[in-house]
Amino acid sequence: MGAAAPTASRLPAIRADLLSDTVTRPGVAMREAMATALVGDDVFGEDPTVEELEERVAGLLGHEAGLFTPSGSMANQLGVRLHVKPGEELVGDSLAHVLRAELGAAAILSGISSRTWVSERGRFRADDAASLMITGVGPYQVCTALVIVENTHNFGGGTIQSLDEIRRARQLTRAHGVAMHLDGARLWNAHVASGVPLDDYGREFDTVSVCLSKGLGAPVGSVLVGSRAAMAEARIWRKRFGGGMRQVGVLAAAGLWALDHHVDRLSLDHARARRAAEAMAQAAPGSVDLSTVETNIVIVDVAAAGWPAPDFVAAALTRGVRTYAVSPGAVRLVWHLDVDDEATDHAIEVLTGLLTQPPGDLPLG
Ligand SMILES: Cc1ncc(COP(=O)(O)O)c(C=O)c1O
Repeated sequence: MGAAAPTASRLPAIRADLLSDTVTRPGVAMREAMATALVGDDVFGEDPTVEELEERVAGLLGHEAGLFTPSGSMANQLGVRLHVKPGEELVGDSLAHVLRAELGAAAILSGISSRTWVSERGRFRADDAASLMITGVGPYQVCTALVIVENTHNFGGGTIQSLDEIRRARQLTRAHGVAMHLDGARLWNAHVASGVPLDDYGREFDTVSVCLSKGLGAPVGSVLVGSRAAMAEARIWRKRFGGGMRQVGVLAAAGLWALDHHVDRLSLDHARARRAAEAMAQAAPGSVDLSTVETNIVIVDVAAAGWPAPDFVAAALTRGVRTYAVSPGAVRLVWHLDVDDEATDHAIEVLTGLLTQPPGDLPLG
């Protein structure tokens, strides 16, 4: 895991930063790997470290080729762009990151429309996708060209998708010539928690995006994988979207280091998330549904304890715990490699304390 990373001084004194798994800071060993990386101009295809990363991730996911991108959003939008022509549509669940948190990119950058189904916690069901898919209606209606699946599901609360449902969807989509893209920003977490090999998930999709900058703790970067031809086309679109990068092996090196050191340890994040969830469920029954805690994300129903989510977030922050309001009555907690057992203990103390006291009764902290 490496020695402790420098901290950012402008933040308030935070003892447990559960805002997101994107807040990690690269440790000393990762920074050393970055400092000594071989580099070249990647727009000319001359960066050996980027090449190594792309090949490695493609191999892990059972695909021919990979493409390093600055962000998960760009990797997703390249995947979308490859499969859907302007005027066609993609379909996905209404909580999907591609649809909810990429700021209309598919419509703005690629002229693509979208339709959604409503899911329970982002749980993917092949029948939901099939109920929206429509093909061969070109002159009259919008044709579906792509189904999006997110695994694990972020806004759903770290939900792991069923491989059986994915396989069923693959059969249905294939029969209609519809492509499938996996937003696998946290596929590593799904793999570690479920034991399903990465390539078993990966092979069911035409393209897969994975993030190095979430649970794996690299400072930046994602990889899109697919066929060699698809990645050659994605390389052109990446440049067009402004994502062509030059001596970027220094960043790819962080990703390679993370793949070596930070995948198996995700089980620690999952165990800490579960320990905290159990403590909250016991202290304030109804605040956490333990059946929904599958990986490193816990959604807390603070409204059930009488709290508006923004007030709960503010009260926790003054006590050194940073959290995120995902809805007016729910707060999200995310475990990652910079939240250890001690920080988890502190979070449990603060959060159970708040959940068992009505907001009006509390001192300001
Ligand atoms: C499920 C999911 N997909 C994609 C992304 C986008 O990643 P980035 O922030 O690198 O654009 C995120 C970011 O949190 C995410 O949670």
